[in-house]
Amino acid sequence: MSGTAYNAYLKTDTLHSLQVQVTSDEGERSFLVVCQVQELYFALISHDVDAASNHLREDRLRDATASLQRAATHFAGLNASWRSLSWMLPADFASIKVGMTKEHGRSTSLQSWKYREMLFRLGLKDAALADELTSMPEQHADLLRAYEAPSVYEDAIAMARRMGYDLPEVEATPAQDERPLDQSIVSFWTTVCLSREAKHSELSALAHAFVAIAEGLAEYKYLHFLATSRTLGARPAYFGTSGTAWLAPTLTVMPFPELWATRTGGE
Ligand code: HEM
Repeated sequence: MSGTAYNAYLKTDTLHSLQVQVTSDEGERSFLVVCQVQELYFALISHDVDAASNHLREDRLRDATASLQRAATHFAGLNASWRSLSWMLPADFASIKVGMTKEHGRSTSLQSWKYREMLFRLGLKDAALADELTSMPEQHADLLRAYEAPSVYEDAIAMARRMGYDLPEVEATPAQDERPLDQSIVSFWTTVCLSREAKHSELSALAHAFVAIAEGLAEYKYLHFLATSRTLGARPAYFGTSGTAWLAPTLTVMPFPELWATRTGGE
């Protein structure tokens, strides 16, 4: 065997050959590496959320909670990576963008299929955004499968029904905002989250893991918004409209709607 175990395991030779710059700017490397690190985190979170779904479908509640808790911790790493870009100014971003367009054509991070898959698995589904991937048929097909499948939240409700809770059958919803808040699911989560009874403790841990993920995602979106405000401002982006104006409404879109509604409840 040649080489060393460390490098064989981590595929470091491949890993360190993946940073191909499109400018000669000294700072581009950090932008490129942070984007790649974030891509890996999107895929990792998506993987753990998918694992949680599989556990829920087999009624393995504790395993599902463990997978979701792990996914929630990844947001801490993902979100910390924004700090590596705090040096960037508009001229730095503009130069990289020009280089990218020259080398690869018009780009937007909406073309990140792993980010979209992560959101779909969490239940934030917008089919139109999957269209950005039609020129990559394999990835587009993967995305459509994630779009059609029940989200991890829908899998949790289905499992709770099988546990005997009186809940409606929740089908895989195409888009979260097309489904009105279900009051029986709000009551269910309220009981689970506020009860100190041992019989609810495992579902309560699941609910806390969902909330931790939603908070991690909200933080991610806000840090992205701040980075965009600092390096692009309100200048036009992919859609020709102001980049920050496009992003602003996405900040308040949260997964697991009924879980958040329990906070308003007062029961
Ligand atoms: C720091 C400079 C950055 C700027 C100025 C910026 C700007 C933008 C803008 C304007 C959008 C809206 C769509 C568009 O017009 O393209 C967007 C979306 C997005 N960006 Fe960034 N971005 C930056 C960094 C990053 C990084 C480092 C990542 C990680 C790979 C990233 C991931 C995303 C994702 C996943 C979306 C889609 C958001 C959604 O669907 O809600 N961005 N970005």
